[in-house]
Amino acid sequence: MDFELRIIVSYAEGRVMGNKGKIPWSIEADRKRFRDHTKGKAVIVGRRTSQFLEPLPGRERIVLTHDTTLDTKGEGVVYDFEEAVRTARFINPEVAYIGGGHSLYMLALAHNLTKRIEATEIHRSYQGDTFFPELGSEWKEITKRERSYTRTNGEVVTYSFVDYER
Ligand SMILES: NC(=O)c1ccc[n+]([C@@H]2O[C@H](COP(=O)([O-])OP(=O)(O)OC[C@H]3O[C@@H](n4cnc5c(N)ncnc54)[C@H](OP(=O)(O)O)[C@@H]3O)[C@@H](O)[C@H]2O)c1
Repeated sequence: MDFELRIIVSYAEGRVMGNKGKIPWSIEADRKRFRDHTKGKAVIVGRRTSQFLEPLPGRERIVLTHDTTLDTKGEGVVYDFEEAVRTARFINPEVAYIGGGHSLYMLALAHNLTKRIEATEIHRSYQGDTFFPELGSEWKEITKRERSYTRTNGEVVTYSFVDYER
């Protein structure tokens, strides 16, 4: 298999994916999907995302920043997206994940090695200030699986695991 980059993301109605640095929802099945798919692979994230989301054991996180003094407590740091891709490929020669945020998704969508998007689409509106970009027509939906979960207040929220490829 040739090396490829994959975007992994969750977003709600209006493509909201973040608010004040955080992800506005917490869905265990979404987190499990992230853990299962990224295990044994590199996950490339932007500096802002690295500061709000803790790294998980079992996968190597690569943080992209311009700040050469950044202390990431032992995580890999790179200063250029191509360097991030080369480092990720060394960790797993088949697949590396792009874990956000918005600026990293933009870089990945513009990169010819990005072939697949693994999205969790939440069918509910949340307040947000960061949005997942609209996809170009080259992206085709490959699979869609509907799911639901019940919030602590009893509200049932539906969401879909949707994969896109180009
Ligand atoms: N729903 C989801 O699946 C999901 C996933 C991840 C994140 N998010 C959300 O997304 C939001 C964060 O997104 P964001 O776009 O604001 O921040 P981000 O992409 O996480 O990080 C931005 C930072 O990355 C570094 N960077 C970006 N491009 C670079 C380049 N070409 N070269 C070197 N460094 C570069 C810069 O760091 P320096 O400023 O240090 O130079 C930049 O400020 C948060 O709300 C977060 O919760 C959502």
